[in-house]
Amino acid sequence: MVEWTDNERGIITTLFANMDYNDIGPKALCRCLICYPWTQRYFGSFGNLYNAEAIKTNPNVAAHGVRVLHGLDRAVKNMDDIKGTYAELSVLHSEKLHVDPDNFRLLADCLTVTLAGKMGTAFTPEIQCAWQKFMAVCVAALGKQYH
Ligand code: HEM
Repeated sequence: MVEWTDNERGIITTLFANMDYNDIGPKALCRCLICYPWTQRYFGSFGNLYNAEAIKTNPNVAAHGVRVLHGLDRAVKNMDDIKGTYAELSVLHSEKLHVDPDNFRLLADCLTVTLAGKMGTAFTPEIQCAWQKFMAVCVAALGKQYH
């Protein structure tokens, strides 16, 4: 089981409480689809992803970016059982959507870059450390079904 200090719990809870999901979610998913274009293959039903501009203005991409953050929200509320919380979501991504689990880390990194860009100097090394640990645990839990 992953251990969390009170400080880490506080940082993660505060980060999510102050996060603008409608800004961070869409920007992070756009960044993922633009920087790692092979991730576009899973979103065939989302319509036009022809170029960066199309991706940035695609309402399905924006809505899905927000949905991903709501998905992470569930892990924040269940920090002591992230694996259990994501059991079903892991099955969905592996067995139904056939998402290569390497892509979870890529999206997590895009979220980190997007958040850092928005927070600037407020994204201190200490905050980054807790954030990266949290995302690593989420990525591992989402990939659990694949092992
Ligand atoms: C669907 C979360 C990473 C592809 C979903 C859903 C959630 C979610 C909450 C909706 C599930 C439902 O409808 O019950 C996450 C989280 C991720 C992640 C928290 C990692 C931080 C990825 C990655 C890809 C991906 C990296 C592909 C590159 C999809 C697709 C759907 C989906 C294709 C279905 C979309 C649709 O047809 O509406 N994800 N996801 N996910 N996810 Fe993920």
